[in-house]
Amino acid sequence: MAETVVADEQEFKHLTVTPLAGALGAEIGGVDIAAGVDEETLAEIHRAWLSHHVIYFRDQNMTPEQHIEFAKRFGDIHPHLFNKALDGYPEIIEMLKTPAESINNGDVWHSDQMYTPKPAKGTMLYGREIPPYGGDTIFVNLYLAYDSLSDGLKKTLAGLKGVNDGDTKNNTSGMSRMERVTSGVAPLAQINPGNAQTVSVHPLVRTHPETGRKALYLGYHTDQIEGWSNEESKPLLDYLKVHARRPEFTCRVNWSKDMLTFWDNRCTQHFAVNDYTGFQRRIHKIMIQGDTPF
Ligand code: SIN
Repeated sequence: MAETVVADEQEFKHLTVTPLAGALGAEIGGVDIAAGVDEETLAEIHRAWLSHHVIYFRDQNMTPEQHIEFAKRFGDIHPHLFNKALDGYPEIIEMLKTPAESINNGDVWHSDQMYTPKPAKGTMLYGREIPPYGGDTIFVNLYLAYDSLSDGLKKTLAGLKGVNDGDTKNNTSGMSRMERVTSGVAPLAQINPGNAQTVSVHPLVRTHPETGRKALYLGYHTDQIEGWSNEESKPLLDYLKVHARRPEFTCRVNWSKDMLTFWDNRCTQHFAVNDYTGFQRRIHKIMIQGDTPF
């Protein structure tokens, strides 16, 4: 089984990097984001992010403005095409689940905004209210998912493209986003994406533009293989989706209040676990613009 590439911990002068699991994930220490992050520290954070794919910083005391400012250090903001932004903050989606609600946002395996022509390269979540237990986010390392395929399947996948639909009905309800809102099974207020492109075709194996490594690139929104029928696509996509979530490719991030988690969508999928009914969870989400996958 291929090993993930992890940077030498000795190389970090301005922060501590403590791996969370063998596959991916690391806790970053020694950084107070709200106090300001200098360029050298930022470069180390960026390096830790590329090496561990999911990084998190506990005990950060950040205003929405500081959250936005930190996200912008990594690129332009990628607005969500369907989720309504927080009042006064077009950059932020507030993901709120109240004690009375049972429906959770994000409890499907996905990589953010795959259905847009230039999907979000990164996502930064900040925990404002966290349940006493439960509500973890699980991540998978899609480099490992690709590396562990047979040479035969790698050859088959080369050149294949996935069709990613932002309003896929390929979910347990079988409903569109608006139908889910109307019938009360959608957790977040939705907006009409207007003329924005919400179906995009991307390689099933993408090359990470910064590391040069290959990763499987599919998720909940990947409905079909370009040029294949639904019936032909489903068995291979189902196989790859299940394969990508093998336990040894995962890490599980356990939230605390005021924690910031920052992941790389180009080589990971994530899943928000809905196991905290009766408690409130409130998370602020900002996404960072990526490039056209190749
Ligand atoms: C998401 O899918 O972005 C939400 C993840 C989470 O709430 O843990």
